[in-house]
Amino acid sequence: MEAVRINTPVRPAPAHLVPALSGSKTPVLSAAARRLGVLPMPNLAWTPEVERETAHLYEKIRSVMPPVEWPFHAPYVKAINDLKKQRNAVILAHNYQTPEIYNCVADVVGDSLQLAKLAASSQADIIVQGGVHFMAETSKLLNPDKIVLIPDLNAGCSLAASITGADVRLLCKTYPGVPVVAYVNTSAEVKAEVDICCTSSNAVKVVESLGVDTVIFLPDQYLAKYVAARTKVKIIAWHGACEVHERFTAEELNAYRANDPTIKIIAHPECPPEVIAASDFAGSTAAMIDYVKTQKPARVLLVTECSMADNVQAETGGVTEFVKPCNLCPHMKRITLPKILDSLIYLREEVVIDPALAVRARESVERMIRLG
Ligand code: 13P
Ligand code: SF4
Repeated sequence: MEAVRINTPVRPAPAHLVPALSGSKTPVLSAAARRLGVLPMPNLAWTPEVERETAHLYEKIRSVMPPVEWPFHAPYVKAINDLKKQRNAVILAHNYQTPEIYNCVADVVGDSLQLAKLAASSQADIIVQGGVHFMAETSKLLNPDKIVLIPDLNAGCSLAASITGADVRLLCKTYPGVPVVAYVNTSAEVKAEVDICCTSSNAVKVVESLGVDTVIFLPDQYLAKYVAARTKVKIIAWHGACEVHERFTAEELNAYRANDPTIKIIAHPECPPEVIAASDFAGSTAAMIDYVKTQKPARVLLVTECSMADNVQAETGGVTEFVKPCNLCPHMKRITLPKILDSLIYLREEVVIDPALAVRARESVERMIRLG
């Protein structure tokens, strides 16, 4: 695998990650809010009615949330579920969302590929993305006529921030004729410059589908190495990295294994190669969840963002014991119940993509989806 480093100057925050504020610092209403109106703020008191109506939802997360915390979440959970019906909205939540979002207000949960596919088949008028900005952009690309909202515009991603459209154009000049595969963890601007997208669950298949002997693979250097180790296609990689997964080390995994040789260690392919080598299995977040549900290990260590262990623990009901090395994704954690509620009331922050750019970016995502 060949690594490429093109030094680009420090850039200001991308315009799409800067919240729209008027001169008086009062949030500007989104186009959707001007069209459909703002709704009144519901009562957020912890009442016997809220307790009764949300009891079945608390049961789902009882194993990962102490009872003392539930009265803080339950009024939001009830208000959000009521407002979803009123707005004909769905909430798509990534596997890294906190348990009260993933289990109590989300309509659809999954990895990036599952969320992209489900976004494409949604019948709702409004999609609220429980995830980071590139995921909301992907939903908007696949649903150009729907309102797509991200509860916090600053929910970015270190991978998506590592490369721009101009960087890709420069790469294409450096390697003329070499096709470009982009991980979905990229901005729409980058997706518009590439041949096809991939996720961690289909990256090898996508690379091999191009029928060439060399591809440019961006932006994750570690996913690129993971792919390079599983294909004969030569990979030219960008130097991006996930700030969460690159912090795991083989030493810490080996220490867990020394402590309990029966433990199953499963890792996300965004981890460095020595971490993958120290694991029993590597796969996308959906593949990791599937591993736990089908293999039912007695004890497991999920080498990924830490909310996922809580979510799988809640779903698998005590069959498996989870060891939780906690590396949080600060971007995923920007999405909270109060911000989701605000999204539904004020219809913010609306994801807007330049239509000409969207046509090209959509083709890269749809080409991946067509591969099946
Ligand atoms: P998945 O597609 O495996 O869910 O990964 C997305 C992501 O951002 C992992 O950090
Ligand atoms: Fe991006 Fe890493 Fe967070 Fe996933 S976990 S959204 S790759 S920063």
